[in-house]
Amino acid sequence: MSDLPLTTSANTAVAEPVTLVEQRYAERYDTEAHDVWSILYERRMRTLRDTGSEVFLNGMERIGLASDRVPELADVNRRLATRTGWAAIGVGGFLPAAQFFSCLAERRFPTTLSLRSRAQLDYLPEPDIFHDVFGHVPLHADPVFADFLQRFGALAAGAQTPEETTAMARLFWFTVEFGLIRERGRTRVYGSGLISSHGDAANALGSGCDRRPFSLDAVLNEPFEIDHLQNVLFELESFEQLFEAVDALWERRD
Ligand SMILES: [Fe+2]
Repeated sequence: MSDLPLTTSANTAVAEPVTLVEQRYAERYDTEAHDVWSILYERRMRTLRDTGSEVFLNGMERIGLASDRVPELADVNRRLATRTGWAAIGVGGFLPAAQFFSCLAERRFPTTLSLRSRAQLDYLPEPDIFHDVFGHVPLHADPVFADFLQRFGALAAGAQTPEETTAMARLFWFTVEFGLIRERGRTRVYGSGLISSHGDAANALGSGCDRRPFSLDAVLNEPFEIDHLQNVLFELESFEQLFEAVDALWERRD
C-alpha cells in the first residue's frame, strides 16, 4: 500500500493545482467507520508500543490521535501547525507524481479520506485514512523528518528524467513507506507501510527479511515491487541520514 504515484515517468510539466476534498466529517464516518478505526488502532498499537520508532510514538501523542474515532484533519493540522507547519489535506485518490511531490514541497500531505471496511481489515490495495494519517502523519510532527520530507518533495517535483524519477521513488519507498531505524540497540519500524500493516511489519522484523544498513547508493540501486512482502529493507541509524541523503541528491543534480 503506497501513496507513491509509481506509474508516472518524468515530471517535466508544471504541476496542476491539487483539487482538495473536504472531509465532511459527520457525514462521511458512521458508527461502523469509527469501530473499524478503533479495531485497527488498538491492534497496531499493541505491537507498536514495543516495535514502533520513538519518533512515531511521540508523534502520535503530539498530533492527538484518538483510539475510538477517525481523526478530524482540522484537529490534527492545528497541532501540526505549531510544531512543524505540516498539514494533511484531503484528496480524492492517487495524484500524478508532480502534484504529489509538489504538495510535499509545500508541507502538505495528500490524504485519502475513505476508510477500509470491516471486511478489509488486513489488506487494502490502496491507501486509506488509516494508512495515511495513522501511518504517515505522526512523523510529520518531528522537526527533522518534517524538513526531510519537504526537501525530498522539492527535489522529486523537479525530476527531469525517468532515471531521476525512479531514484526518487526508490528513496521514498525504502524510507517513508518501508523504513526501519535502529533505536536503543533494536530495530524499530517507522515507514507508513509498516506502521499501518501488521503483516508487513511482522515480515520486516522477521527472519524472512534481509535488513541492510541504510546507504543512499544501496537504496538507489535496489528495485522494489509493491505487490508482495518486502524481502530487502534498509535500516537507519538516525533520521539525520535521511536529510543528508536528500542533500547529497541535490548536490548531484547541481
Ligand atoms: Fe503511504
